[in-house]
Amino acid sequence: QLLGQRTGDLRGRHIVVSAGPTYEPIDPVRFVGNRSTGKMGFAIAEAARDRGAFVTLVAGPVALETPWGVHRVDVQTVAEMLVALEQATADADAVIMSAAPADFRPVSPADHKIKKAPGQETLAIELTQNPDIIASLPGGGVRVGFAAETRNLADYARQKLPAKRLHFIVANDVSAPGSGFGTETNEVVIFHDDGRVEEFPLLSKYAVAHLILDRVLERLQPAD
Ligand code: CTP
Ligand code: CA
Repeated sequence: QLLGQRTGDLRGRHIVVSAGPTYEPIDPVRFVGNRSTGKMGFAIAEAARDRGAFVTLVAGPVALETPWGVHRVDVQTVAEMLVALEQATADADAVIMSAAPADFRPVSPADHKIKKAPGQETLAIELTQNPDIIASLPGGGVRVGFAAETRNLADYARQKLPAKRLHFIVANDVSAPGSGFGTETNEVVIFHDDGRVEEFPLLSKYAVAHLILDRVLERLQPAD
């Protein structure tokens, strides 16, 4: 059940947030994944709830408690995340794509655990590219993406804005101290579709979440 607060500037709005990595199976016991812990997305879900929104949180495999009052949908793979987000965003006022979907998945996952042969030195696993979830979602209202980079942050982030039809993108250097995977803090730059750029200091992920939601609020269509 979706629970909304009685008060708050996002009261009555439906905000969809994705969080965490995806796991793409290699065989029944192994996967291709990444270091995302889901903390940024869970912080956004909490902050949106605190501002009165109905929140759907589509979460990859993470070790985090479901925030109180948030509707959580658990998924494993990019294919599952895509289906969950298509459903959740059908009536959404905003979609905030903070998940780290795996860019590639094994072409043909093995039905049984892969066994090593004596003397075998290498194992090749062929990967195929996953669909871009946010780019393939038709609507969703206000569209927010993230860009996790280790170099050329501004160039890469700016390229992702039109390619994914985003209103703005939240970029962070995941190799900088205090930013990125598993930290409680984040240092972000927000690039808007109208060319505006906003740089922020190192902040808690919950504080970054509110900065993002302030900007979502500015872009929302008037409530019916
Ligand atoms: N994203 C997505 N579907 C994917 C990959 C990424 O929706 N299959 C989203 C992420 O959730 C994020 C944004 O796209 O909001 C940017 O993700 P990022 O990994 O930085 O960019 P990619 O487009 O995957 O490009 P690359 O990893 O090559 O930099
Ligand atoms: Ca990627």
